[in-house]
Amino acid sequence: MDAGSTETRAAARSAELRAHIAHHDHRYYVLDAPEIDDAAYDALMRELQELEDAHPELGSPNSPTQRVGGALAEGFAPIRHRVPMLSLANAYSTQDFLDFDQRVRTKLGVDEVSYAAETKLDGLAISLLYERGRLTYAATRGDGEQGEDVSANVRTIRAISLQLKLDPAPELLEVRGEIYLDHAGFEALNARQRSNEEKVFANPRNAAAGSLRQLDSRITAQRPLTIYCYGIGASAGVTLPDSHFECLAWLRQAGFRVSRESLRLRGATAAIEYYSALQARREGLGYDIDGVVFKVDSRREQEILGQVAKAPRWAIAFKFPPLERATRVLDIDIQVGRTGALTPVARLQPVLLAGVTITNATLHNADELARKDVRIGDTVIVRRAGDVIPEIVRVDLSLRPPDARPFVMPESVPGQAIAQIIQRIAHFGSRRALDIDGLGDKQIAQFVAAGLVNDPADLYALTYPQLFELERFGEKSAQNLLATITHSKDTTLPRFLHALGIPEVGEATARQLALHFGSLSAIQTASLAALEEVPDVGPIVAGRIRAYFDDSTHRDLVQRLLAHDLHWVDTPPRASHTDDHPLTGWTIVLTGALSEMPREVASERLIALGAKVAASVSKQTKLVIVGDNAGSKASRARELKIPLIGETGLAALLAAPTAAAQVVADYALAPEA
Ligand code: IVH
Repeated sequence: MDAGSTETRAAARSAELRAHIAHHDHRYYVLDAPEIDDAAYDALMRELQELEDAHPELGSPNSPTQRVGGALAEGFAPIRHRVPMLSLANAYSTQDFLDFDQRVRTKLGVDEVSYAAETKLDGLAISLLYERGRLTYAATRGDGEQGEDVSANVRTIRAISLQLKLDPAPELLEVRGEIYLDHAGFEALNARQRSNEEKVFANPRNAAAGSLRQLDSRITAQRPLTIYCYGIGASAGVTLPDSHFECLAWLRQAGFRVSRESLRLRGATAAIEYYSALQARREGLGYDIDGVVFKVDSRREQEILGQVAKAPRWAIAFKFPPLERATRVLDIDIQVGRTGALTPVARLQPVLLAGVTITNATLHNADELARKDVRIGDTVIVRRAGDVIPEIVRVDLSLRPPDARPFVMPESVPGQAIAQIIQRIAHFGSRRALDIDGLGDKQIAQFVAAGLVNDPADLYALTYPQLFELERFGEKSAQNLLATITHSKDTTLPRFLHALGIPEVGEATARQLALHFGSLSAIQTASLAALEEVPDVGPIVAGRIRAYFDDSTHRDLVQRLLAHDLHWVDTPPRASHTDDHPLTGWTIVLTGALSEMPREVASERLIALGAKVAASVSKQTKLVIVGDNAGSKASRARELKIPLIGETGLAALLAAPTAAAQVVADYALAPEA
């Protein structure tokens, strides 16, 4: 037998195997109806793998053997969406929905609208591009205009076909959907994370997001991600049905996972009925949904309706109210915060709420505790709205046992002073403050108990022999922690201010203060009136800041931190600008895609500096900022002889807005550029 025919047979067999495997993936992951058992499936995979090993030229990124992931990525390349990925307007009440229906009917001039009803999944939007039937890339939504190339990760998701089941395959087809984890997948993933001593995810959404943005696709391959497809973006060489609902059915034919909950219905009454029925079944679906999406079914009508801002006028997300669940209060204990405040926390009988196990809920303070009259032994209704911390909505008094014990809020708790010191230092080292990785409550408690640390400045005096002596510290962990502590000295003024833990001064206020005053000494010596000039700082916050720095213990702490060489780069104070809005009078147009920041961010920053950002170029335009693929606006600006600058110019402008005229002169793009 000659080599040529061996090759041909290998090629034929591998094509056959890929087709078989794709078929079984579809049966298993899309239809939930496997035809063969795991052993038979594994045998097919093994045979294919062996063939590809023996004939490397047969390998292809679209081979099922590649589902296990591959090389490490350095980052995600930007991908411009062919058709923008829009978001959805929300309805929170029946009235909101009826208003939406009314607007649609008026605009279309009809009495009743046909809607496609779909689940509103809580995952991540994805765009899948198929060229001549083959998956060529997958992109996240990003800002809607431009997303990130997550193809390597998406290829590992077995519920996503690498090849369309369509013959002939269209020239181009962009399928859109939501990548998510169902409850079973989420629980399995967290169980594995726990047994590997890796971090557990707070909820399925976070877990899905983290999994999709992995630089190592082999990790993504191990995450039980799946998808529901809900729409089509760009397409070419194919005639799609006018009905969105029929498009979904067509996508299902083409091999995609489309929710079986989708339905076509006529009129608002039927829509509201669907909403209520689905809400009743919501918790039994096995995956998180946070509402129903209603889409005008006719694509022709969708076109008539068009869009406002970034959301179509032909669709709405009718949200469910947050989930509530009953559970029992096992105990109430007290948590000490960094300001010394005592917070009552209810320890709960673990309960699953929107896919997350809840074990405790804050009762905020004594007043809240009294108002809700929560007692140990009570049955309470807990609620989780989106990502926020679970809270106790009310007590179910009908279920109060006779021996339910009221909780008396103590004035103080034993060990309170120590607990406060620990919290204060933990806050200082937290990620958004000085970011001292590896410095947890446990370690701090050890340092405090050993008499090594009493405030944040003491951290910088810790030595290797001191740490090495402590329990649970080895050579490596001691060295690592000391290195991170040293590293944290190189910081920024906003982080430093935030880290101090001045009451009412969070991250955002710290940033505003730094921006306004430019230096720590200016803030330390600022009068109440001067502090109140800072955006978001009112008399109360100003008073807290003043009181903080008037306290000699705090001034001393700051001195000692600086003596340990904590440092940052000061910026010129904004307060001293003759004009707080140096770009007043500048009408600026942004066009094309920016790579450094989303266009909205650029425009917000320009507006904050006093500029007016306009949508189109006119004689009033003073400056045009051009990104990639700028179109007619750039040409129009050239016609009108309006100066243009690129992204480097924009960066320079944002850095030195008071010298705007000079920046424009320095960075003006050549007329023919
Ligand atoms: S359609 C035409 N359909 O919700 C508007 N989106 O709030 C584009 N989502 O980014 C989206 N389920 O991530 C659509 N059945 C569904 C959806 C859905 C969840 C997400 C999607 C989108 C976000 C918009």
